[in-house]
Amino acid sequence: MTVSPTVVWAAFSMALSSVVALGANIICNKIPGMAPKQRAICRSRPDAIVSIGEGAKLGLTECQYQFRFMRWNCSTLDSNDSMFGYESLGGTKEAAFIYAMTSAGVSYAITQSCGLGSLPNCGCDKDKGDGKLAPQGWKWGGCSADIKHGLRLARKFMDAREIAQNARSLMNLHNNRAGRKAVKDNMGTDCKCHGVSGSCTMKTCWTTLPPFRKIGDSLKKRYKKSKIVVPYLGRRARTAVTLILKRAKRPHRKPRRSHLVYLDKSPNYCDFDGKTGSLGTVGRKCNRTTKDTDGCDLMCCGRGYNTHQYTRTWQCNCKFHWCCYVNCNKCSERTEEYTCK
Ligand SMILES: *[C@@H]1O[C@H](CO)[C@@H](O)[C@H](O)[C@H]1NC(C)=O
Ligand SMILES: *[C@@H]1O[C@H](CO)[C@@H](O)[C@H](O)[C@H]1NC(C)=O
Ligand SMILES: *[C@@H]1O[C@H](CO)[C@@H](O)[C@H](O)[C@H]1NC(C)=O
Repeated sequence: MTVSPTVVWAAFSMALSSVVALGANIICNKIPGMAPKQRAICRSRPDAIVSIGEGAKLGLTECQYQFRFMRWNCSTLDSNDSMFGYESLGGTKEAAFIYAMTSAGVSYAITQSCGLGSLPNCGCDKDKGDGKLAPQGWKWGGCSADIKHGLRLARKFMDAREIAQNARSLMNLHNNRAGRKAVKDNMGTDCKCHGVSGSCTMKTCWTTLPPFRKIGDSLKKRYKKSKIVVPYLGRRARTAVTLILKRAKRPHRKPRRSHLVYLDKSPNYCDFDGKTGSLGTVGRKCNRTTKDTDGCDLMCCGRGYNTHQYTRTWQCNCKFHWCCYVNCNKCSERTEEYTCK
């Protein structure tokens, strides 16, 4: 009996797709901290879940960097597993920042994976394809980052948690969007000149992702100017709840899309408090000689600090000898470190 190649191929692809589907089920059930709707998205796009996870981590790491000298250092009381949602912080501006940051991270990581060709559904931005003329007079070339795909998938995934019709959910959705906008607004353009001896008679350009730090810096600025909002039920019945600025010259003003918004005043993060999600600053490193936020006075909230003395050693006065070895001395220095009581 002979079997036609198409039948063999059909059987093979069926087997393959069931393996892939099975794999997706196992993977998506194993990843902790996802909401049911996110699990469903994971199953339909298992290829993207690695980028999504990496993006959330990227956002969190940047958050820790941006807040390394503050009492709140981007740690939360949520379990380690909750990569995609931070409930313990309440509706504070710190929660606003961490949501915007992770949403930005996920958008960024997906866009980056698209450009590297590691996701099947995306690649370079087709609207900026080779040879197309840009309004600025140059031609698009190379691989423009496909930010639209990144933003779309990040929105679908990150917003899938927010099914509650309450103010906190609206706050998270708003800050997720502000995070995505920060990525979009910080995109750059790289160009290459062509023509005789770099005369630039012809230029090709492509859009690029900025270093992620740039997005972190810009969201940190937004955090400092974040706006307090209150839920507002439109006058007509059946209108949905929206968030409006609590302090505004004119009534019922909506926050801008780029604003980070929050509902609750922050605690001072001095002491541990499970209710506000504050871990306190006991054990945090501080700087004895600065009046800044990482100075021992501010960081330790007046509780005082412990001094630890230790000897720091390192290689020094290294000399290169021909050929081929390096001779170094050992230098050392007594230093002190301070941690909050
Ligand atoms: C978080 O992770 C650390 C180290 O991996 C572990 O010791 C700790 O128990 C975890 N905490 C929670 C709440 O899961
Ligand atoms: C942040 O501060 C907490 C509480 O002092 C500490 O346990 C944690 O290790 C710090 N996290 C980082 C990333 O520095
Ligand atoms: C402490 O702050 C001072 C003044 O800002 C700075 O020069 C110094 O390098 C800081 N020390 C440490 C250990 O960070």
